[in-house]
Amino acid sequence: MKWLMQNVRQRAAFAAKNPGYALGAALRELTLADERFLAKITGASVEAIRGYLDEPISSPAFSRHLREAEQNFRELKIMSADLYAKKVLFPYAAVRALKPQVVVETGIANGVSSAYILLALHRNQRGTLHSVGLPDPAYLPEGKEAGWFVPKWLRKPWQVHLGDAKEILPSLLKELGRIDIFLHDSLHTYEHMLWEFEIAYPFLRLGELLFADDALWNSAFEDFARKVGTPEARILHGVGVLRKNGA
Ligand SMILES: C[S@@+](CC[C@H](N)C(=O)[O-])C[C@H]1O[C@@H](n2cnc3c(N)ncnc32)[C@H](O)[C@@H]1O
Repeated sequence: MKWLMQNVRQRAAFAAKNPGYALGAALRELTLADERFLAKITGASVEAIRGYLDEPISSPAFSRHLREAEQNFRELKIMSADLYAKKVLFPYAAVRALKPQVVVETGIANGVSSAYILLALHRNQRGTLHSVGLPDPAYLPEGKEAGWFVPKWLRKPWQVHLGDAKEILPSLLKELGRIDIFLHDSLHTYEHMLWEFEIAYPFLRLGELLFADDALWNSAFEDFARKVGTPEARILHGVGVLRKNGA
C-alpha cells in the first residue's frame, strides 16, 4: 500500500509518543478493519476499497501535484491537512465506491479534501461537489484564495459557496433537494457539528454517508449517531463515518 510509505518519519515519531494508540492503529492496519468497514457500508469489496485508497498516489498528475504542493506548503510554513493521510483517503474511497451525484462538504481552507473528492468524481466521470466555507485568511497563505490547492483540471464539477455554513447550508440543501454524501470539516465545536449533522441528515439519501472530520474533538458525532440509531457508525483515524439508517 503506497500511502503507508508516506510520512513514515512523522508516523514513527507519533507512535513513540502515543504507544497505546499506535498499537491499536497497527492492529487495525493488519486486520484491514477500516477497509472492511468501508466495504460493508459501501457494498464494495475489501479489495476494491484497497485499490481506491491507492489510486490518488498512483495517479501521475495528482501525485505530481501533491509533491509540488507539499514543497509549497513547506516554503510558506502554513498548516494544512496532511496531504497523504489515510483520513483524507476515506471520503475518496467512498466516493469512488458509491459514485454519488451530489456531494456537499463544509470547510474549504486550502482545499485538500476538496481536491481528493474532485479527483474521485473525475475518475467516476459523474457528480458535483458543493464546498461551503469561510474565506478565512487565518487558514490560508497570503494572497491565496480558499481552495487554491485544487488543480485547474479538477475544477469543472466544483461549486464553491463562500460564507458561513450557518447562512449557506439551509438554502443550499433545500435547493439541491437530495444529497448523496455530506462531509463536515468546518467549525469543530459541539454545537456547530451537531447543527450541521441535524440540518444535512434529512437531505441525505437512505443508505448514503455522512463524514465528520475531527470527530474525536468532542462527542457530537457519537451523540448524533446514537440519536439517529444507525448501527453503522464508526470513527476511523479521527474521521466519523455513518450510513443513514434504513438502507
Ligand atoms: C479544518 S479547515 C478545513 C480543511 C479543508 N477541509 C482541507 O482539507 O483543506 C476548517 C475551515 O472551516 C472554516 N470555517 C470555520 N467555521 C466555519 C463556518 N461556520 N462556516 C464555514 N466555514 C467555516 C475555516 O475558516 C477553515 O477554512
